[in-house]
Amino acid sequence: MKALVLAGGKGTRLRPLTHTSAKQLVPVANKPVLFYGLEALRDAGVTEVGLIVGDTGAEFREAVGDGSAFGLRITYIHQQAPLGLAHCVLIAREFLADEPFIMYLGDNFLVGGITGLVDAFRAADCDAQILLTKVAEPQFYGVAELGPEGEIIGLEEKPEHPRSDLAIVGVYIFSPAIHRAVRAITPSARGELEITDAITWLIDHGSRIHSHLVSGYWKDTGRLQDMLECNRIVLEQVEPDVRGTVDRLSDVTGRVVIEPGAVVENSVLRGPIVIGADSKIISSYVGPFTSIGANCEVEDAEIEYSIVLDSSSVRGVSRIAHSLIGRNVEVSRATGLPNTHELMVGDHSRIQVRA
Ligand code: DAU
Repeated sequence: MKALVLAGGKGTRLRPLTHTSAKQLVPVANKPVLFYGLEALRDAGVTEVGLIVGDTGAEFREAVGDGSAFGLRITYIHQQAPLGLAHCVLIAREFLADEPFIMYLGDNFLVGGITGLVDAFRAADCDAQILLTKVAEPQFYGVAELGPEGEIIGLEEKPEHPRSDLAIVGVYIFSPAIHRAVRAITPSARGELEITDAITWLIDHGSRIHSHLVSGYWKDTGRLQDMLECNRIVLEQVEPDVRGTVDRLSDVTGRVVIEPGAVVENSVLRGPIVIGADSKIISSYVGPFTSIGANCEVEDAEIEYSIVLDSSSVRGVSRIAHSLIGRNVEVSRATGLPNTHELMVGDHSRIQVRA
């Protein structure tokens, strides 16, 4: 079965990071979110992937290439503007041909993979299979309303007053019947061709839709809190692996990965954490659920439950937590008087200081 992976879109909720790079390439445990999805597809037996990309297409070509590193063949499909999930199906018509396919949202993260879903789809003999999961804030997702037999009665995209707490997870399987549906619908109030409307069209035209309740772990990584949570989940499962150098004054406990070339001196590291290649951790504390990227420097600082991207530094500051720090960022202590915070921060950034 082919897959259509969606990696266009705007990523406004992860600004300012997404001003300069794609949200699907923000790393979780030092690996881009999208890679987990591509690996899950490969493990489910997919070999052909159509990758929808927008303005950040060059970045994906650089990171993913032709897909051979994943055991996949990638066909890039350019979307001029983020006109909706159903629009992605529309422009991928030729690539998808007349076979069923998996549609995978590139910013979604499912623990436990998707193996078994294809078999469930075939056994159900339907035109669409969707995954649902209970969430605390359904108003941020597509929401399904089920009937007494578990059948889908209605689907709504980000409703103000959700009729259930069942969110649509970003992994769908469609038969070729979806192509008529995406051609038939019109843009929603927010100007997008919604996949929820296309599925509703299928229901209205007599198609069978199969829904599957996912009990495992799932996150849409579009928001900071969700990114940090994904990072925690992945780090909880990493195998300890120290390939950098740690001096005798340092204390390393728990699941700790130290990539080659990294140096740890006079520091306390409490796993689960990952320290990227060629980074330096000097006289610092790095606490649980932290991913430090490659070429970073953490000195006289304390940090935990955070993600730091490549080539950034944190010096003389304690204690940073619940933070996502982009690439080439410098965080340091201000000295002298007056006792001020000195900031040079990009557009759409968010800073919380304890005054
Ligand atoms: O994460 C699950 C949710 O994903 C579902 O519950 C919703 O029903 C579904 O509409 C979708 O909502 P989001 O608001 O999270 O979608 P987002 O705009 O973040 O786009 C999801 C992915 O698809 C993301 O990787 C960007 C990509 N995309 C999005 C649009 C609108 C495209 O490639 N092209 C697009 O036109």
